Amino acid sequence: MPSVLFVCLGNICRSPAAEAVFRHLVEENHLGHAIEIDSAGTAGWHAGNPPDDRAQLVGREYGYNLSNQRSRQVTLSDFDRFEYVIAMDISNFENLKKMAPEDYDGTLAMMLDFAGKKGEEVPDPYYGGIEDYHHVYKLLQPAAKGLLDHIRKTHQI
Ligand code: 4NP
Repeated sequence: MPSVLFVCLGNICRSPAAEAVFRHLVEENHLGHAIEIDSAGTAGWHAGNPPDDRAQLVGREYGYNLSNQRSRQVTLSDFDRFEYVIAMDISNFENLKKMAPEDYDGTLAMMLDFAGKKGEEVPDPYYGGIEDYHHVYKLLQPAAKGLLDHIRKTHQI
């Protein structure tokens, strides 16, 4: 089964948002049973915590429910579990590249690659304002669609 792990730094803002946007889209397409989805952070500072209130609040405005998510840190075993490991920014991407086993045969990519914006980042909204969270969701929506299109084509689902 195709499996996707979204990764940011703290796993309380961008990657929980990416998980919610992608899950919503997958379920809308009746593929909830066919794709495994999770998110994690390269840092473990917020492990066990729910997503940032601002990520939840803005998410609700777009119809996403993040309240059941809990932060966790990326582990080595994630590279066994997930075919797609998707980083929100270059720093997370570089850290994941260092961490990945040499024989990892999945796809390590940046989220906005799937929106035709190769190398561009989903900027960290943590020290910003509510408008930065809106910006995050607006970047994530087309990228989630591009990622699902890619997976559907690759896996013929
Ligand atoms: P995220 O945002 O990586 O999108 O979850 C951040 C969350 C927390 C911190 C930084 C970024 N922090 O420094 O605690």
